[in-house]
Amino acid sequence: MIFFPKKNIIGIDIGSSSVKLLELQETKKGYQLKNVGIGFLPPGTIVDGALKDQGAVTNIIKNLVSNLDIKTKNVATSISGHSVIVKNISLPVMAENELEESIKWEAEQYIPFEIDDVNIDFHIWGENPEDKSQMNVLLVAAKQDIINDYTKVIKEAGLNAVVMDVDSFALENMFEMNYPYNEDEVIALVDIGASILNMNILKNGISVFTRAISIGGNKITAEIQKRKDISYEEAETLKIGGQVKEIDYSEIEDIVKEVSLSLATEIQRSMDFFWATFTDEHINKIYLSGGCSKSIELKRLIEDRVSDIPVEVLNPFAGIDCGEKAFDPEYLEYIAPLMAVGVGLALRRTGDK
Ligand SMILES: Nc1ncnc2c1ncn2[C@@H]1O[C@H](COP(=O)(O)OP(=O)(O)OP(=O)(O)O)[C@@H](O)[C@H]1O
Ligand SMILES: [Mg+2]
Repeated sequence: MIFFPKKNIIGIDIGSSSVKLLELQETKKGYQLKNVGIGFLPPGTIVDGALKDQGAVTNIIKNLVSNLDIKTKNVATSISGHSVIVKNISLPVMAENELEESIKWEAEQYIPFEIDDVNIDFHIWGENPEDKSQMNVLLVAAKQDIINDYTKVIKEAGLNAVVMDVDSFALENMFEMNYPYNEDEVIALVDIGASILNMNILKNGISVFTRAISIGGNKITAEIQKRKDISYEEAETLKIGGQVKEIDYSEIEDIVKEVSLSLATEIQRSMDFFWATFTDEHINKIYLSGGCSKSIELKRLIEDRVSDIPVEVLNPFAGIDCGEKAFDPEYLEYIAPLMAVGVGLALRRTGDK
């Protein structure tokens, strides 16, 4: 008897500072890490989620595919930030195919873009327990031109984009595979990248609150660059603990603290938005990911701001067998926080929601 393994998919997380590629192998015992790689992008390649230099992104993807000797062609990728709107809305109860027909009209009032310029997707959660004539629906609307651009850079690299995800959903997917959690718990996933902070709050296994803010590690780097009158690359090196010219970390510490504090404040503000709807809801734990979660300073400031909520940096490889291909454990540990969205994408299977 011949077994046809499920078709593999590679996850490609196109972040504004780097492209992350991941491939997982599903086995009887769970997931194995098959391939992983990062390619860094020059500053300005992606601005506000828009691909300013498509050629640069395509080249990075091509290099990753060839260096890692990737054979899989199907790709799950994602968009984030202001080009995508994620909202839980309430609508009169109707069948899925009925909603398919009318979603455009129903969604219009929630979408700040021209309705004809967006791609709309939805998921019916079910009946609204407080009003049985209504149902709860997750609405996802993304700018069509952004989707087209992301699909194009992948196609130009010789691959097929078969899943277009949203960063915060990929995070949720990654988390659920790695951290089986108690259904009563309320968990906040916070991914802080170079230019976007994504927050996703899960309650009873459902995402009840998502928020994307245009803020991230770039802000710290840009401030160091400005105040020390050095290049962006030099500021970035200094920020992550390297030395540039005669400057060392002690001279930029105050700048890092100051900007990190504004990031921590944004997280606290997002929590306040959450509590505005979910009054008295207790958040059991905050899990951090994204490159900025490597900053001990930032983690400490977040802990200060959220006082009684425990904060932990998550490991997207926690539930994955990484031993098969002799990956350097130190390297994996080093890149882990950056790989959270990518792992979520690599977990997608064609046909999966
Ligand atoms: N050790 C470190 N300390 C502080 N910041 C770090 C460290 N390592 C990486 N970073 C920062 O993390 C950011 C990159 O993180 P990440 O790869 O998650 O972002 P991205 O996915 O490319 O961007 P985005 O999703 O925001 O578009 C950069 O701003 C980088 O400076
Ligand atoms: Mg990112």
